Amino acid sequence: LAPEQFFETEDLRQIAVRVAGEAAGLLRDEACTNISRLSRVIRGETTQVDLEVEDYIIDLLRRELGQVRIVTEEQGVVGEGPVTAVVDPLDGSKNYLNCIPWASVSIALLESGGTLRDVKAGAVAPIFYGDVISFGRGRGCFLGAARLEKPSNPSRFIYVYIEHPEAAHRLAEVIGGLGRGYKIRSLGSAALEIAYTGIGRGTLFLDLRSKLRNVDIAAAMGITLECGGEVLGANGEPLNIGTGQVEKAGTVIAVPNASLASRVAKILTGN
Ligand code: IPD
Ligand code: CA
Repeated sequence: LAPEQFFETEDLRQIAVRVAGEAAGLLRDEACTNISRLSRVIRGETTQVDLEVEDYIIDLLRRELGQVRIVTEEQGVVGEGPVTAVVDPLDGSKNYLNCIPWASVSIALLESGGTLRDVKAGAVAPIFYGDVISFGRGRGCFLGAARLEKPSNPSRFIYVYIEHPEAAHRLAEVIGGLGRGYKIRSLGSAALEIAYTGIGRGTLFLDLRSKLRNVDIAAAMGITLECGGEVLGANGEPLNIGTGQVEKAGTVIAVPNASLASRVAKILTGN
């Protein structure tokens, strides 16, 4: 059974907005207090705050959706159900734990078994400032309650994540190919930067580190696609991966419109 038989797309969008917004509120209330407790390492890169907010989100999602498969950054796959929620409970945890006010909560909802391109609705909630950015597939993108037009004149920001020196050469090719007048940013919450690009607060998001996972990008990618943009992989092809478990996405390139997508794809492939 498709989730629409239980939930309309607009209902799913509102659930994503509510859950992401409430989790962001909790994180905002706790921000910059008790850092030594919140930053306690549980395992690997998982800290106390990541786990606490994840548990809070799992609880809220179960209350809203009943039986739900939750694919989430820290605990992997939790539960089973006709709807899958792809969750990053805290995107930008390093910023958050250093009192740097740029971090977000990401929730994407789809019919279980689908890929990133099947996500029906999603929300990226900034923790510190600004309205929740959301979308419903075929129903538009939203900033808070306001429905957004497709961005016609995106701001000339390029959000960039690179690590290896050779990536700097690829970056130089892309920037050279776009022309002059762009400002480079690397703010530390990829979901928020992809969502900003999707709604026209940027011309390009480029991550050449192959570090981002489906949980980091699911909601922001849905926003970008719904707003009329595109998300590409390493060779300029449309990016798509599964949502059954936490999985790496490889190179991630997001642009706010189709003509930019073909320009960037041409630069990357040299055609
Ligand atoms: C991180 C943020 C950051 C990116 C890191 C991610 P996390 O997410 O998206 O922008 O540079 O690679 O891990 O770990 O705070 O959820
Ligand atoms: Ca995270």
